Amino acid sequence: MNMKLGVLGTGIVGTTIGTKLVQLGHEVMMGSRTQNNAKAATWVQASGPRASQGTFADAARFGETLFNCTNGAASVDALNLAGAANLSGKVLLDIANPLDFSKGMPPTLSVCNTDSLGEQIRRAFPNVKVVKTLNTMSCKIMVNPSLLPGEHDVFVSGNDRAAKAKVIEILKGWFGWKSVIDLGDITAARGTEQVLALWVRLMGTLGTANFNFKIVK
Ligand SMILES: NC(=O)c1ccc[n+]([C@@H]2O[C@H](COP(=O)([O-])OP(=O)(O)OC[C@H]3O[C@@H](n4cnc5c(N)ncnc54)[C@H](OP(=O)(O)O)[C@@H]3O)[C@@H](O)[C@H]2O)c1
Repeated sequence: MNMKLGVLGTGIVGTTIGTKLVQLGHEVMMGSRTQNNAKAATWVQASGPRASQGTFADAARFGETLFNCTNGAASVDALNLAGAANLSGKVLLDIANPLDFSKGMPPTLSVCNTDSLGEQIRRAFPNVKVVKTLNTMSCKIMVNPSLLPGEHDVFVSGNDRAAKAKVIEILKGWFGWKSVIDLGDITAARGTEQVLALWVRLMGTLGTANFNFKIVK
């Protein structure tokens, strides 16, 4: 079934997710701080009539389900611009990582250990069904897991069971994931965000972003 979807964010993640969603036949609005963001305009032009752009508030209002692809350090600000009323009751796939590049490379996390960005978003917007997912891999792999050989894993966490079930359906049915690991409530985002320290290190060591985690029991 074709849906109206909101992608919040105009970076490489927003455009990669948005492109995949349009290819699947959905109507997608990309949101930004400004109505006519140049990167979003380029994406709309390349993506055809099912793609559109607007402010974060426009995209949040438009989407039945929303994807948070904003800079993690600014995600709560971006969602405030989207507006609590426009977000209310909706499933939000939170893909952002709270990376702080202010001291150079490697980045540190602006929130960690006893809290996470996923939890910050849930506290700020208690009526939003936040599901943390897809943040532990490069965006090309998010929407095309078969880029890597064999089975590998994507994690989900969140407090709303029905929302997680819907997200798992999206991951499997739309993006082609075979192995989805449900880590429980949103506090699991502490782990999946903190794994970024390892992810960044692996990218340097392996010399590529084309890799993912595989959990073996
Ligand atoms: N790159 C990857 O493969 C990858 C993988 C996993 C997770 N992630 C995470 O995915 C998210 C998106 O990454 P990205 O590289 O595509 O984009 P990004 O450059 O991290 O973020 C771009 C978006 O953040 C918004 N933004 C920046 N500063 C803001 C502020 N002060 N207030 C409100 N909004 C602000 C921008 O708004 P405008 O549109 O108005 O400029 C833009 O839409 C990040 O959280 C990243 O950590 C990335």
